[in-house]
Amino acid sequence: MKQLITNIRQLVNVRSDNKLLKGTELAHLPMIEDAWLTIEHGRILDYGSMAELVQLQDSYDQTIDAAGATILPSWCDSHTHLIFAASRESEFVDKLKGMSYADIAAKGGGILNSARKLQACSEEELFQLALPRLQEWMQLGTGAIEIKSGYGLTVDAELKMLRVIKRLKDVSPIPIKASFLGAHTYPIEYKDNHEAYIQLIIAEMLPVIAKEGLADFIDVFCEDGFFSPSETIRICKAGAAIGLKAKIHANQLNLSGGVEAGIELNALSVDHLETMDAATIAALAASNTIGTLLPTAAYFLRMGFQPARALIDAGAAIALASDFNPGSSPSGNMNTVVSMACIQMKMLPEEAINAATINGAFAMELESELGSITKGKRANLIFTKPIPSLAFLPYAFGSNLIERAMVSGTFI
Ligand code: NIG
Ligand code: FE
Repeated sequence: MKQLITNIRQLVNVRSDNKLLKGTELAHLPMIEDAWLTIEHGRILDYGSMAELVQLQDSYDQTIDAAGATILPSWCDSHTHLIFAASRESEFVDKLKGMSYADIAAKGGGILNSARKLQACSEEELFQLALPRLQEWMQLGTGAIEIKSGYGLTVDAELKMLRVIKRLKDVSPIPIKASFLGAHTYPIEYKDNHEAYIQLIIAEMLPVIAKEGLADFIDVFCEDGFFSPSETIRICKAGAAIGLKAKIHANQLNLSGGVEAGIELNALSVDHLETMDAATIAALAASNTIGTLLPTAAYFLRMGFQPARALIDAGAAIALASDFNPGSSPSGNMNTVVSMACIQMKMLPEEAINAATINGAFAMELESELGSITKGKRANLIFTKPIPSLAFLPYAFGSNLIERAMVSGTFI
């Protein structure tokens, strides 16, 4: 099956090489104006400018007139908690009425609330709940996604979550990566016996995960009152022993040492980063670890936004992701993430688009498959509605500017 797409107003993020973008490199977003693109068997075959289009249109099985749409590579959402049993809007209302996150947690709310509900759900129920969520974000341009466990918190429930992700991988038209987040919080019965829960993770969960190939990465919520840097390092090293690279929840609420732990572990990414200081920013910029910023989580929890400008100026590699979850970011809309990164974090549209595409692909080790318009990569593409310029995408933050989304050469 060979397809030709003509009359593309702008073909965005066209690259011949695969390189993680750091610092000033993020502002460079290569594109072709008035372009064509060909696809073979769902992968990008070639591209060029309409003025040089010489191929005969009838040598293609399908010709698609983009009619002036701008085409981007699909969003690569490298941090989500897509599997959960129930939404938590009643906690949201409690917070509006003045309760703090700590008050809610003390009432058994928060992550523990999600865990209780998930433990009571069957694998089939969780799978059926997850599918439409995945489809919703795909319609909004997400073309690859990472999904975490972490609402199980028992051996059975963590493995159940990972098996649901595995089933999703089997049916999903877009690539999915699984992260094991057994260390999301201490279950109540282990509050005063951290060692026993860490043993459960290392001795009971990880061996099954290794045997059944249930995870690609390991994650820990490194935060005051959750997992300490030394606990984080211990758990991630046990994950590394079965081949799982680390992606860490770091520096969300406090200068928790999570970023430093991630760097020491040579983590693929450290995510959140609401709470950073000059030394932490400099250390991250000097490392190979990606800083993944989750602006919709900062927004929803009314926290200060991540210091994107300082990170970019220091030379760090930045990715953007949704953190889709019922507690701190009940939206997986990557268009909102890109807008918010520009509006609230002063990222340039070019920087935000690079961070949500090619660098997001790197943050899932999917850079050879997705994240840019590159020959051989999957044709997972966003076709926009008519827009006057690329900056209109983050600017018109309330409009759905996606005309249609394509996955492996097929419109969904
Ligand atoms: O990434 N920070 C830790 N975990 C999630 C939120 C967990 C929850 O409240 O359900 C996050 O924001
Ligand atoms: Fe998260």
